[in-house]
Amino acid sequence: MNDDSRSRLENFFGYAHDLGLGPFYVSRNSPPSLVSAANIARAQSMPIEQASALASQSAGPGRSSPLAASTPALRARPGLPVIQGSSGPSLFEDRIENDSLERIRQDIGDCTRCKLHKSRTNIVFGVGNPRAELVFVGEGPGHDEDVRGEPFVGRAGKLLTQMIEAMGLCRQDVYICNVVKCRPPENRLPERDEIETCSPFLSRQLAVIQPKVICCLGACSAQTLLQTNQGISRFRGEWFDYRGGKLIATYHPAYLLRNPNAKGEVWKDLQKVMAVLGLKPKPRR
Ligand code: URA
Repeated sequence: MNDDSRSRLENFFGYAHDLGLGPFYVSRNSPPSLVSAANIARAQSMPIEQASALASQSAGPGRSSPLAASTPALRARPGLPVIQGSSGPSLFEDRIENDSLERIRQDIGDCTRCKLHKSRTNIVFGVGNPRAELVFVGEGPGHDEDVRGEPFVGRAGKLLTQMIEAMGLCRQDVYICNVVKCRPPENRLPERDEIETCSPFLSRQLAVIQPKVICCLGACSAQTLLQTNQGISRFRGEWFDYRGGKLIATYHPAYLLRNPNAKGEVWKDLQKVMAVLGLKPKPRR
């Protein structure tokens, strides 16, 4: 084996180790990437839900495809295609023992796992209360976040801060993070392979924090966590189960900057979150 192949293989196994997949490789004889729904979807140009069914089949009874296995338990709802959990144990529901935000950050390291590392300035891991009852999940850092290494600090971030304060909270009360930790160039959407590579770290962050409510900001995070490709307007404002917690999706603050008329819809969604968390709106001065 030449040095390049060896180093690529080492990186691959290092990544699997960072995700806590060690036992998976010991006890199963095909690497998860071979049967992942996302890979099938990419290869076959088919919707992810259909691919997931195929992935479960190819994984065989009692074995779960990594993607389907990490599927949160969603409330069945007509119209929102949901990947049904498979019968095997979940790789990500089986929490990594003694996992912590610090350990996840260490595992990310000076990441070069996807192409986003080439143009980033800083990895934007997440900020806020590690025991937050409420976590906001955005899509990926923009320019200001990349420079500062902190999520939601640009124009959209200022609006998010106002939204949090209107809920009677401050930024330090909640936890804020993104699906991908490095800025996509030209503020483009994160691509499928980037999301696949990075979102397991988000999964671990959520497993460690165990918030009562996850509020997805925009389609990217909602579609990633709910594993659907439906448009956000079809299911925003609705409650879903996410591994024992509740998940709601609302429009991204950047969308609100372009479409201020949608602020009322978002406020309604946030009021639902407040009702669940027993929060009172900040009194207007
Ligand atoms: N948009 C996001 O989705 N995340 C950020 O951190 C900033 C802008």
